[in-house]
Amino acid sequence: MKQICVVGVGYVGLVTGACFADLGNRVIALDVDEKRIANLNNGIMPIYEPGLEELVKRNVKAGRLTFTTSYADALKGAEFAFIAVGTPEGVDGAADLQYVEVAARSLAQHMTAPLIVINKSTVPIGTGDWVADIVKSAQPKPIDFAVVSCPEFLREGSAIADFMSPHRNVIGSLDKDAANKVAQLHLPLRAPIVITDLRTAEMIKYASNAFLAAKISFINELADVCEAYGADVKEVAAGMGYDARIGRYFLDAGLGWGGSCFPKDVQALAFMAKQKGLNPRILNDVVDVNYDRRRDVPKQVEQLLGGNLKGKTVGMLGLAFKENTDDMRDAPSVDISNALIAAGAKVRAYDPVAREAAASHMPAVEIVADVYEMAKGCDALVVVTPWNEFKQIDLEKVKGLLKSPVIYDGRNIYDPARMYEMGFTYRAIGRPSKNGRG
Ligand code: UDX
Ligand code: UDX
Repeated sequence: MKQICVVGVGYVGLVTGACFADLGNRVIALDVDEKRIANLNNGIMPIYEPGLEELVKRNVKAGRLTFTTSYADALKGAEFAFIAVGTPEGVDGAADLQYVEVAARSLAQHMTAPLIVINKSTVPIGTGDWVADIVKSAQPKPIDFAVVSCPEFLREGSAIADFMSPHRNVIGSLDKDAANKVAQLHLPLRAPIVITDLRTAEMIKYASNAFLAAKISFINELADVCEAYGADVKEVAAGMGYDARIGRYFLDAGLGWGGSCFPKDVQALAFMAKQKGLNPRILNDVVDVNYDRRRDVPKQVEQLLGGNLKGKTVGMLGLAFKENTDDMRDAPSVDISNALIAAGAKVRAYDPVAREAAASHMPAVEIVADVYEMAKGCDALVVVTPWNEFKQIDLEKVKGLLKSPVIYDGRNIYDPARMYEMGFTYRAIGRPSKNGRG
């Protein structure tokens, strides 16, 4: 059993803390947001993540997980301190490090024994060294410490499974002893451990996210070619995916990527390259291709309707940036609803869990609590988030409720042949249309 402090109880910090507690460690999770901590102490989760509430409650009950707003309390007896605060996109696409700075300074001011400070947040290359400088200069008296980079690779919606069964853990530090101690913490996960230097570890995180984002933009570009020539991108992706060099994951064509990581990480990597006088052409295109998917939606719906969107009502199936989360950060639904409204449409929407989180992002959208209520009287529907519950909805009922049976399936969740058979005016992404051509 080790004693660990985790700073930040957001999507990453809370999952990391709860999982380390579940592995038998003693975890004190800290956040500067008093309401979040008060809620957690009353068993109320700040975010929706499948399985998290049960995991947190079980470990709180066992006395392995506690919450606080006090750095002094969080550090009492701690050997490790994970920094898991947000690193949002700042000016010019650079990562905003103000929260990391506050966390590093606060740790330095309150530590009373040697400490291994571990950066979980995604931070620009060189941040680990900068954090070390901050800790050193903010300590009231010198106490031994090391800074280690241990980037997170958790997908929202499956974060606990991703933590417990990782593809690998990356640990970066020039301090071999500290790196080995952090490696020990991860041994029970029985995954490969990559030990490297700080900057390389920081780069591995950006490189991984940028590659995955590029993979999605690539398949989206191919989807347009497939559609133009009457090929089916779903089958193309499946056929490619059997090749282990390509792999079958992250080849789902659709409305593209959003969320708290890919958008800011690809931009931040491009920004870092530019700062050194490099021209990151691929990264720039990865971003452009992605955002074109969202911009295209009003035009696509107009084509399906055979006229413009003025006075039409469009229903959005799904609001969260992906399924199984309530996270609205850079969710395609926000840009899509804005574009539909700008084109003269009224927008109604439904999401199983993100309704509350979405409301402030789209005040002009009518967000309803039932998928069939949403469909009632709509001229067209757009599938924005591929929630499982949309895959098996009663499409006959939906068709009866719609003013015209039009569906733009932005996530390829329905079978085109069946949709045509049922009489829908239907369009998927990168799949043959009714007459076999795009
Ligand atoms: C994380 C990472 O840290 C980010 O770098 C990564 O790329 C995406 O995931 P996330 O967990 O999603 O961020 O952030 P968020 O859900 O916003 O949670 C951050 C938490 O840190 C909040 O609860 C916030 O109150 C807290 N915080 C912020 C602190 O405790 N101290 C601060 O000084 C600032
Ligand atoms: C991502 C990374 O996967 C994770 O390793 C990292 O640490 C944090 O960022 P996350 O953003 O939570 O995780 O979810 P992910 O499943 O990667 O999806 C990101 C976006 O890509 C979503 O908007 C999703 O809808 C989209 N996506 C994903 C596709 O459009 N097609 C795909 O094939 C896969």
